[in-house]
Amino acid sequence: MKDHLIIFDTTLRDGEQSPGASMTQEEKIRIARQLERMRVDIIEAGFPAASNGDFKAVKAVADTIKDSTVCGLARAIKGDIDRAGEALKNANSARIHTFIATSPVHMEKKLRMSPDQVLEQAVKAVKWAREYTDNVEFSPEDAGRSNIDFLCHILEAVIKAGATTLNIPDTVGYTMPEQFGKLVQTLRERIPNSNKAIFSVHCHNDLGLAVANSLSAVMNGARQIECTVNGLGERAGNASLEEIVMAVRTRQDVFPCETLIDATHIVPASKLVSGITGFPVQPNKAIVGANAFAHEAGIHQDGVLKHRETYEIMRAEDVGWGANKLSLGKHSGRNAFRNRLAELGIELESEEILNATFIRFKELADKKHDIFDEDLHALVSDETMSLQEHYKLLSLTAHSETGETPYAKIVIAEGGKELRAESDGSGPVDATFRAIEKIISSDTELQLYSVNNITSGTDSQGEVTVRLQKSGRIVNGSGSDIDIVTASAKAYLSALNKLHNSKLERAHPQV
Ligand code: KIV
Ligand code: ZN
Repeated sequence: MKDHLIIFDTTLRDGEQSPGASMTQEEKIRIARQLERMRVDIIEAGFPAASNGDFKAVKAVADTIKDSTVCGLARAIKGDIDRAGEALKNANSARIHTFIATSPVHMEKKLRMSPDQVLEQAVKAVKWAREYTDNVEFSPEDAGRSNIDFLCHILEAVIKAGATTLNIPDTVGYTMPEQFGKLVQTLRERIPNSNKAIFSVHCHNDLGLAVANSLSAVMNGARQIECTVNGLGERAGNASLEEIVMAVRTRQDVFPCETLIDATHIVPASKLVSGITGFPVQPNKAIVGANAFAHEAGIHQDGVLKHRETYEIMRAEDVGWGANKLSLGKHSGRNAFRNRLAELGIELESEEILNATFIRFKELADKKHDIFDEDLHALVSDETMSLQEHYKLLSLTAHSETGETPYAKIVIAEGGKELRAESDGSGPVDATFRAIEKIISSDTELQLYSVNNITSGTDSQGEVTVRLQKSGRIVNGSGSDIDIVTASAKAYLSALNKLHNSKLERAHPQV
């Protein structure tokens, strides 16, 4: 029998560290449920000591998820570990992941600690985490640039202290696949008690090598990979879950291990994460990009029609393409609506929210004949976002006509007051944003504007992402509607609402 390759998903933690990718608690639960459905072994739900919001979100995920282990990140500090232990206390299966940097540059310049002090703190942290759970992971941050003798020394000590998983991070995405594989092999060979722990890897994608480095480590004995849906994560992101899972599955002739992932949930998970974070998936992205299974060249099309395996190494349906189920239609009632949401793992907080979402559904069904699962996710996102709205879109008129200057008139509610403005612009979206700015004067910089269709066809809802920057704080707002100018206004206001709400929450600390 082959070894089990543990899939540790960190979309909710490292993924959320992508600038602008912050998620609400409700969104995190929806993603966690999808990960559980996909049979991810471990879900890193967040960094409980980072903020009250993070603590609550990790706790909510731990309280909800039953089949996957839920993990909380903690610096090698007693206070952080206590917060993680507290957040995870109701989990069916809990893991604490504690870390401290071990590379010379991090120890000297960031921590201002000697290697001996780092080692002592790491050992204390692992022992403390063991007071909460016997499932403890330790990471020597920036292992890819750490001294091998020191790494062996500290890892041997943390295993003795009770660490059950040793995670080797290539924090800055610096290593090469062969070198990283060798690093894992050397550690396994040189650490006397290495057989008492599972080796894991956590690779960043700064040089586009995160997946290659992770797989090279697997060939050298690593049996856990830390990864994220769509490769989301700090800077250039983490190793992408879908690429890891499908590489291991497709090349069983090469890999000595297999995952337990149900790959048919991959594409829905990718769409869910992209919709919630507002990070579109590039069309040529492996596995989950819109073109991943599209054959353009005549020779290829001809080959695939004659015999699929000429140009296809995987089947689109095996990773969930085509699984976007026709969900509901205009005549579906409240019960059918509620049941489909439940099947999608969406539990709305109250009957009131369910009713409000059902009204939105009916409005959409009047305009759009077929409602797909993706539409329902977008509706729920819009409704739950509207609960935290400081600025609310009341009405919008946008006009564009050949040869005429486009203009927009908008009415927004702010704290019970109705505010109106109109503006022209180079297009209806530009005019709409200018009109909003006349009211709000947000002093923000627009960094990104993108439109995607949620499903296919010209009656599809458009999903717009707007990224705004203000004093170094970056937020993504998203909005969906059949009318893309309205979707754009919703997205712009959603970003402004996030900026408004973030004044109350402290920013994520650097990990
Ligand atoms: O990239 C990194 O080193 C991390 C650690 C916390 C594992 O995210
Ligand atoms: Zn990381």
